[in-house]
Amino acid sequence: MPAVILVGAQWGDEGKGKITDFLADQADCVVRYQGGSNAGHTVELDHDQFKLHLIPSGILHPSKTCVIGNGVAVDLGKIIEELDGLHQRGIDTSNLRISSRASVVMPYHKKLDEIEDRTKKIGTTKRGIGPTYADKISRVGFRICDLLHEEYFRQKFTLEAGNKNRLLQKFYGEPGFDVEEMLEQLLAQIAVIKDYVVDTPLLIHRDLKAGRKVLFEGAQGTLLDIDHGTYPYVTSSYPTAGGACVGAGIGPTEMDRVIGVVKAYTTRVGEGPFPTELLDETGEFLRQRGAEFGTTTGRPRRCGWLDAVILRYAARINGLTDLAITKLDVLDTCQTVKICVAYRYKGELLTEFPDTDIVLAGCVPEYIEMPGWNQDISSVTAYRDLPAATRDYIEKIEELCGVKQALVAVGPKRDQTIVTRKIF
Ligand code: IMP
Repeated sequence: MPAVILVGAQWGDEGKGKITDFLADQADCVVRYQGGSNAGHTVELDHDQFKLHLIPSGILHPSKTCVIGNGVAVDLGKIIEELDGLHQRGIDTSNLRISSRASVVMPYHKKLDEIEDRTKKIGTTKRGIGPTYADKISRVGFRICDLLHEEYFRQKFTLEAGNKNRLLQKFYGEPGFDVEEMLEQLLAQIAVIKDYVVDTPLLIHRDLKAGRKVLFEGAQGTLLDIDHGTYPYVTSSYPTAGGACVGAGIGPTEMDRVIGVVKAYTTRVGEGPFPTELLDETGEFLRQRGAEFGTTTGRPRRCGWLDAVILRYAARINGLTDLAITKLDVLDTCQTVKICVAYRYKGELLTEFPDTDIVLAGCVPEYIEMPGWNQDISSVTAYRDLPAATRDYIEKIEELCGVKQALVAVGPKRDQTIVTRKIF
């Protein structure tokens, strides 16, 4: 099974960083295929904690190739910052490869993101993601390979940055950017990272042909997908499994398994309806015990019970073959746990996730309630040693979404992961 896609099954922040880090140990190559520095991974090692945004968590495994794919929006300043941080901690980054086709986040993209979110109120991370992808689709964006051809880049960038300045000044009444200054800064930045830049679809293709194990790591989650998520409160890329093919340049026939990372409860950052949201002390308990504060923005995450309607939807949209259930230990002290199994909308029972937020906003969850396990599971290492109530909860999740678990996380550390089915 050499090609495995890992996706978030909810609204992001499912603990993908930890699972990627765990699986990276068995893989030969780890690929990020979409998003940008809006993502945040926290990886805990024995005595250290790493927060990464752009660079895949696979970087902590020096023998693995670590790829930033063509579908990623790369902020050159941020990537240099992350590289410096890793170097300062003695981590070798010579295993990093950046796609020559990846889009570049420009200073004006970040500014536009900030300005436009004032009226759109999506609650974006203000990392310039939406405007960068908008420019890519409008064919006025810049890719890493463009910056490597200086004369071409100087010409095109001067024109485009001029257009953006006019937009900022005339339409938004904001100051523009010094085009020459931006240009020099970008050229200085590309000089720092150019040795990491390669044709990554070709590299991954060759790895797969050579029988090497490749892990495709999605950022964000299914419900933040631009097509399949809770539009317009979504990110501007494809975090779903299909996005791995496009964002890495690998055909669907090459993929073997799709793992959905499911947090044992639900969280959401930013705006938009959230049927199982708990605005009471249980929600606050989940936030505090689960340390539910954004890695990128520090914003408190909205918290609620597990929603199996979402999981069923994620299973279908991504073609999930396995589940990785995370943060189960956060529920250790709950007397009872609830799972939403359907929605009630204007008196009608909905079992499938609705296509619009207009309906989702009016959905009231129908819950089942199960006994909690009321004991510390953080040191359990075998599935059979989990309390019966924990196993019942996991097996109910499997039954409700029709997908079997392969991994169960009972704490943030690498060794707090129970493997029930081998991935690689
Ligand atoms: P953007 O990706 O910065 O454009 O933000 C769009 C929406 O996606 C906002 O609701 C963000 O809070 C959300 N979002 C983006 N990245 C993440 C993430 O890594 N975890 C959770 N939510 C995210």
